[in-house]
Amino acid sequence: MDKFIVEGPTKLEGSVIVSGSKNASLPMISAAILTNENLILHNVPDLMDVDTMCKLMVQLGCYCSREKSTLRINCSGLNSDFAPYDLVRKMRASILVFGPLMARLRSAHISLPGGCAIGVRPVNLHINAIKSMGGRVEIENGYIISKADRLKGSTVYFDIPTVTGTENIIMAAVLAEGRTVIKNAAREPEVVDLIKLLKEMGAKIEGEGESVIEIEGVKSLKGTEYTVMADRIETGTLMCAALITHSEIEIKNVPLYAVDAILDKFVEVGGKYVLTDEGIIVKGERIKPTMIKTAVYPGFPTDMQAQFMAVLSLADGTSIVEETIFENRFMHVAELNRLGANIIVSGNKAVVEGVEELIGASVMATDLRASASLVLAALAAHGKTEILRIYHLDRGYERLEEKLTRLGAKIWRVKQ
Ligand code: EPZ
Repeated sequence: MDKFIVEGPTKLEGSVIVSGSKNASLPMISAAILTNENLILHNVPDLMDVDTMCKLMVQLGCYCSREKSTLRINCSGLNSDFAPYDLVRKMRASILVFGPLMARLRSAHISLPGGCAIGVRPVNLHINAIKSMGGRVEIENGYIISKADRLKGSTVYFDIPTVTGTENIIMAAVLAEGRTVIKNAAREPEVVDLIKLLKEMGAKIEGEGESVIEIEGVKSLKGTEYTVMADRIETGTLMCAALITHSEIEIKNVPLYAVDAILDKFVEVGGKYVLTDEGIIVKGERIKPTMIKTAVYPGFPTDMQAQFMAVLSLADGTSIVEETIFENRFMHVAELNRLGANIIVSGNKAVVEGVEELIGASVMATDLRASASLVLAALAAHGKTEILRIYHLDRGYERLEEKLTRLGAKIWRVKQ
């Protein structure tokens, strides 16, 4: 398992380009199941999770190939509804083939995703919604076995505005008979980007970005060519790199429309920024303490919680971080404390007492965003930090160490 070695503290300078969004790319890849024609996606990040999704598509009988940041997918050869455990366990987002398979084949045989470091991650809301559209769903030996004579439009209410649940049901509904209304739908920008793609493929969808989405089923969808939005979480992570190293950098290709909550918190902790015609120049100085409470979009994103906690560990005072989306998303706390942070967790709240400095040590990555928070802390920590199990980071960040090195960071990948 690869590890990172990071020398700190370092100053960063120069400019960096944000890659395409992981969480917009994954549902779009599975949307290819909805048509027999070519789906060409540009600005797709080169990530382990994207590779896993492509492998799953090939497993289903589709063609999926990458040329630089362009993916070409064709599902005219779709001949299987089977998503095996050994693929799904590597990436929970594999559940995103559930809706498209029910729409196209009216059958799905998908391993239950199982949990991950940050939580149990159930898919009950996905399953109940498919049932309400006429799906007959059984759970057998850890697999979802689902069949339908025809998917019929229905009114679906989500108890929690689940992101991939919303994406699955939109993709099930676009080819269903009649009208589907999703109430309490997720409003994340990645859901909106998927809706934009589906509408270009001929889907009839109203309410993008709203919590009520209406879909009128159509007979078939056509192929198209689409450019994936930039990654708002990578953008926020790079903003935190400027904050924690007290540096000024330019971040290009920023999805400005999708980072309001992140920018707001960035300013609250002392960050300064200027918009440019290519993106944003961000500058970090003294870090101020603050309160963070994660929420569904347009609130502060849970995927930015760990990164901001690393920044707040060096604030001039005490901060409170409350995680409301996942039940176990504080795995980075113990590792940050190994670097000299002073963070106490009580239930879903963490009290972050700002310290003067962090000191390099060996730490362990536990999940994707926790890995990012450890990289950020290592950039500011005095001395050498070793970050183990960095494969977690490779799932969601495209060559982050190369981007940080170009900004002046002293970070090396050691292949093991
Ligand atoms: C998506 O996960 C993202 N992944 C996650 O990003 C992100 O953290 C999350 O949304 C929240 O924004 C992708 O888009 C591929 P949810 P998802 O369903 O869809 C509960 C990252 O770091 N729930 O919105 O799985 C669930 O347990 C990843 O890039 C149910 O109870 O999240 C959680 O507490 C991590 N039943 C809450 O809802 C269900 O059927 C939100 O989950 C579904 C969800």
